[in-house]
Amino acid sequence: MEFAKTVEAARRQAGAWKTEGCTIGLVPTMGYLHDGHASLIRRAAADNDKVVVSVFVNPMQFGVSEDLAEYPRDIERDGDVCRQNGVHLLFSPDAGELYPDGFCSFVDMSGLTDALCGRSRPALFRGVCTVVAKLFHIIQPHTAYFGQKDAQQLAIIRRMTADLNLPVNIVGCPVVREPDGLALSSRNKHLNPAERKAALCLSAGLAEGRRLLENGETDVRRIKAAVRAPMEAEPLARVDYAELVDADGMRPAAAAHRPLLCAAAVFIGATRLIDNFILDAE
Ligand code: PAJ
Repeated sequence: MEFAKTVEAARRQAGAWKTEGCTIGLVPTMGYLHDGHASLIRRAAADNDKVVVSVFVNPMQFGVSEDLAEYPRDIERDGDVCRQNGVHLLFSPDAGELYPDGFCSFVDMSGLTDALCGRSRPALFRGVCTVVAKLFHIIQPHTAYFGQKDAQQLAIIRRMTADLNLPVNIVGCPVVREPDGLALSSRNKHLNPAERKAALCLSAGLAEGRRLLENGETDVRRIKAAVRAPMEAEPLARVDYAELVDADGMRPAAAAHRPLLCAAAVFIGATRLIDNFILDAE
């Protein structure tokens, strides 16, 4: 496995592979890799000749009061996970490498970014779109892999790629969970044992919402209330949002809409967790 810390080194390596006629799959991450990330990497390795993983805790997507300083990091372990899952290049630039002095160009989007996580975290998607566009230009992958766990992010990146005519295929991959239902997340590390237990209220609420929808419930308010109920009953939890939206446009949607995204976010203590499910047309 190769390592690159600079844009130039990453571009040179990826460019050499492209010249040889190799296909390249890119998996952008913020590191502290877990099995959810590994599932994306394995999919990229199955589909491509070469796999590039980026590990970059992107300061631009954190608001001033958010957890940038506390975001977990372990680049040694990330290297092991990458090696074990067939990565060919690990690109881990410093913040100054991607955002040198004078940096002032951004990829901004409206509409899709206003709902759900974008409403609670106004800096988030400008930072995500800007860094992902930069990574696409640096690596020039054929295909890039993103998790359905961040459903709004995936929809936004699909839209940005289409709107800006970026020549990259976007592949969405299923949510990977712990056996008890908690979606894997780098932020789960912050949960103490009591909070880890309390965090199950998120997947429990979504499961209840799914059960109602699958049983034909059409009252959106009742479905949202059912999603919220286990979170509101949990003393360590504070609901951020629980919404039903159309999965492509992120606009409030009727229960019968397909594809329908049911998404929720909750604070467990100081840790914010998100999860969702999508109902596709039969
Ligand atoms: P990060 O949270 O590290 O996630 C990197 C990728 O892994 C994302 O596409 C995310 O959806 C996916 N992922 C995370 N947890 C998952 C799980 N439990 N199951 C399946 N996939 C999962 O998302 C980001 O980083 C950043 O916003 C980034 C796109 C890298 C831009 O900075």
